[in-house]
Amino acid sequence: MLIKMSGISKAFGPVKVLEGVEFSVDRGEVHALMGENGAGKSTLMKILCGVYQADSGSIAVDGNDTLIRSTVDAEKHGIAIIHQELNLIPQLSVMENMFLGREPQRFGIINTIKMRTQCLEYLQLLGIENLDPDVEAGTLSIGQQQMVEIAKALSLNAQTLIMDEPTAALSERETEKLFEIISDLKSRGVAIVYVSHRMEEIFKICDKISVLRDGQFVGEREIAKTNFDEIVRMMVGREIGDRFPTRTAALGEIRLKVTGLADASISNINFEVRAGEVLGIAGLMGAGRSEILKTIFGINHKVAGQIELDGVALHVKQPSDAIKAGIGFVTEDRKSQGLVLGLSVRENATLANLSAYSHGGMINQKQQMAVVQREIDRMHIRTRDAELEVKSLSGGNQQKVVFAKWLGIAPKVLFLDEPTRGVDVGGKAEIYQIINELAQSGVAIVMVSSELPEVLAMSDRILVMHQGRQAGIFAQASAETIMTAATGGLK
Ligand SMILES: Nc1ncnc2c1ncn2[C@@H]1O[C@H](COP(=O)(O)OP(=O)(O)OP(=O)(O)O)[C@@H](O)[C@H]1O
Ligand SMILES: [Mg+2]
Repeated sequence: MLIKMSGISKAFGPVKVLEGVEFSVDRGEVHALMGENGAGKSTLMKILCGVYQADSGSIAVDGNDTLIRSTVDAEKHGIAIIHQELNLIPQLSVMENMFLGREPQRFGIINTIKMRTQCLEYLQLLGIENLDPDVEAGTLSIGQQQMVEIAKALSLNAQTLIMDEPTAALSERETEKLFEIISDLKSRGVAIVYVSHRMEEIFKICDKISVLRDGQFVGEREIAKTNFDEIVRMMVGREIGDRFPTRTAALGEIRLKVTGLADASISNINFEVRAGEVLGIAGLMGAGRSEILKTIFGINHKVAGQIELDGVALHVKQPSDAIKAGIGFVTEDRKSQGLVLGLSVRENATLANLSAYSHGGMINQKQQMAVVQREIDRMHIRTRDAELEVKSLSGGNQQKVVFAKWLGIAPKVLFLDEPTRGVDVGGKAEIYQIINELAQSGVAIVMVSSELPEVLAMSDRILVMHQGRQAGIFAQASAETIMTAATGGLK
C-alpha cells in the first residue's frame, strides 16, 4: 500500500473533527473520499499533505511510518494536493503561482524564460496553452484558476495526488480533459484521492470509495460492488427523500425586466422574470451567464440596456444600489465575493443588511444573533458557534452562509450563481426547498447553474447563452435542447 492512514484523530479546540479514521490508497488507484458537508474530508486530506498535524494516529508511506509535519515534508514524500478553496495568490502571475518557492534559477536569479517554458508545458498538458503564463492569477475565472491549480500539482510530479473537489468549477470540456489526465496518471502508477460530491463522476472514474460520517470512518467499498443508494446511506445514515421538491409557486406580476442589456462581453440580452418564477440561465462556461447577473447588479460596467424592477426604471451604478433596490446575489466565488473569511458566521450572515441591526451607530448583537440562529437552523449550517470565523467552516457550509446572508435582506429578486456548488446531497435538497419557498413568497429568482439536472428541475423557463448572446428562452426543454442551444446549434 502506498499510503495508509490509521487511527487518525483531530480536534480543533473542543470539537472532535476526526476520530480514529482509516484511509488508504495504492499506486494506480483512484480512490474517492465521500461524506456530507463537514464530515471531515478536507481535514483528513490536509493532514495527509502536511497542512495540519493529526492529534493521534499514523501515516505509512510505502509501509514506513512517516511523520508529515509540513507541506514541504509531504512534497518530499511525493504527496501533492489541489485544494478545495483555491489557493492562488491573485497578484502573482500564473507561472509565479505555479513555481512559488521553487522557481527555476540560474546564477541565483529566477530564470523567467525557463519558468515560462515549463509553465506552458503543463498548461499544454491540460489543453489550456492559450492561457498566458504572465497574466495575474486574480484576473482569471474560477474555472481557469482551478486549471492552474491542477497544472501546479502536476508540475510537482506527485506520486500521490489529492484532488479536493477539482471539478466544482470546471466546464464539461475541462472536466473531460481532467478525466483523461487522471486515467493517464493512473496508468503511470500515481495514487489519486478524489474528493467530490458528484456521484456520477465517482462511479465513472474511481476504483474504490471510502465514506466518512461525522468525522468517523464508515467503510470502504469497491466501486464495482456498490451503488448510489448504498453510498448515500453510508454518508447520511438515513434515506433521503426526493432530490428536487415539487415546484408549487404561482406566477405573479413581472418583477424584473431587462431590455437590450450589454456589457463588454454580452450583448442584446432581453428577458423578464415574474414574482414566484425561477428563470434558469444555462450555457457553457464563459458564455456570459454570470455576466448577465453581474451587469444588472452593478459589478460589471453596463454599456447598454434598460432594467426595470416592479415596473420602475432601475439605475444601478454600484452593487449597493442593487441591494438597496432589493436584489440579492449569491455569487459563484464565495471566497472573494461572497464572504469575509476572517469575520464570524454571525457577521457574515448579516453583512448585506447591517443597517437593520444598527441603532445610533451600535450593532445590536442580540437581535443579530437571533436572526442568524434562525438561518443556521433553517439551513442546517454546521458550526459549533456562530461567533467562529467563517473560514473554519467546511466548504459546503460556507456556501450556506452566503445564502443566509442574502435571505437576510428579504430580497424581491434573488440572483443565484452556482448555488449548490460543493454542497452535499442533503444540503442540495435543502437549498432547492428554500428556493421553492422563496418563489412561493413572491421572490423572482434568476439562477445560473452548470448542473443541467438542477436547471431543468428547478426552472420555470430557461435562458440559454451562447458566446455572449442569448440563444433562446425555453419554457419546456429537454437536456438535448439546452445543450444544442448552448453549443450554438439552434438558430
Ligand atoms: N481550522 C478549523 N478550525 C475549526 N474548525 C474547523 C477547521 N477546519 C475545519 N473545521 C471543522 O471541521 C469539520 C470538518 O470540516 P471539513 O472541511 O474537513 O469538512 P468536509 O468533509 O471537507 O466538508 P465539505 O464537503 O463541506 O467540503 C467542520 O465541522 C469544520 O467546521
Ligand atoms: Mg471539504
